[in-house]
Amino acid sequence: MHNNNADIKTAGEILKNGGLVGIPTETVYGLAANALSPDAVKHIFEAKGRPQDNPLIVHISELSEIDDLVEFVPPVVYDLAEAFWPGPLTIILEKSELIPSVVSGGLDTVAIRMPSHPVARKIIKAAGVPLAAPSANISGMPSPTRADHVMHDMNGRIDAVVDGGECEVGVESTVITLCTRRPKLLRPGGITPDELEYVLGELEIDKAVLSELEENEVAASPGMKYKHYSPNAEVFVVEGSSKEFAEYVNSVSEKESGVFALAFSEDEALLNCENISFGEKDDDMAHASKLFAALREFDELGAKKVFVHSPEYDGVGLAVMNRLLRSAEHRIIKL
Ligand code: TXA
Ligand code: MG
Repeated sequence: MHNNNADIKTAGEILKNGGLVGIPTETVYGLAANALSPDAVKHIFEAKGRPQDNPLIVHISELSEIDDLVEFVPPVVYDLAEAFWPGPLTIILEKSELIPSVVSGGLDTVAIRMPSHPVARKIIKAAGVPLAAPSANISGMPSPTRADHVMHDMNGRIDAVVDGGECEVGVESTVITLCTRRPKLLRPGGITPDELEYVLGELEIDKAVLSELEENEVAASPGMKYKHYSPNAEVFVVEGSSKEFAEYVNSVSEKESGVFALAFSEDEALLNCENISFGEKDDDMAHASKLFAALREFDELGAKKVFVHSPEYDGVGLAVMNRLLRSAEHRIIKL
């Protein structure tokens, strides 16, 4: 569907009646349903093949909507909202009885986010209810940043997709919890730890953000424990200069077929194998916006091995590395 007023109204009707709609947000496309209807939400899990214990984010379009959804609104939420909402920040709070347990994956907390994409906001308003929406990919696949990615994964499984163009941020929202003793970052995203610390005064970073969970370790955010962002190709993160990166990848591609690189603009002239651009080395926003579409494109191209030139871990780079390390199953090559 297009994002004109008539189609947005139709999308709102479908959602109101318990259907599933793919919606654009500034981060990635979401697979939305009425968050207050357990039956509608169950269909999200079926369409994605998502494990039942992985809770969903509830999307609102006005701050006042939060009051009914949570047990209590800590004052700092208003500071966070003023600084970052609407935008790519998700806040976990104690849930109210209105939130069905299928939404919270059986937990007594709920994740709330107010997206900034104008089409997302219009769709929430048209539906007249808060919308539960995970990323609109088949579980385990890279998140969709374009409407055609959603069609690729969800065609025949959902009622409609509203096309809102390419997602600006390109990685999912930053997730923090205010239900621990100190505020804690569970998933890095477009809002950086430094920006959050400025408002919160302190911020712990969950250890699962950059490392693998030990066996039997409980994940603070259930989504952290599942295989994620995985294309068919084997992905490797490669640390080193442009020259080292190119020499290494060239040497592998001389011996093997199906070798591709996700490379900085600075690397391109030195590479002999096929590559996709990751933007300039220092442009963390470009890395974020290109990552998921690139991972999908490597599959289309039939890549067997993909070598990704490692960005830095700071700023939005932390979010990019968090996704990359999962898609690479923590394979890092240090040159
Ligand atoms: O940018 C985004 O956040 C996108 C768009 C569509 O808004 N949504 C998204 O949803 O990424 P999803 O379901 O793919 O990721 C939600 C993450 C999961 O890792 C989940 O485990 C975590 O948030 N989460 C949700 N509710 C939680 C809760 N109550 N406690 C801990 N983690 C929670
Ligand atoms: Mg997801």
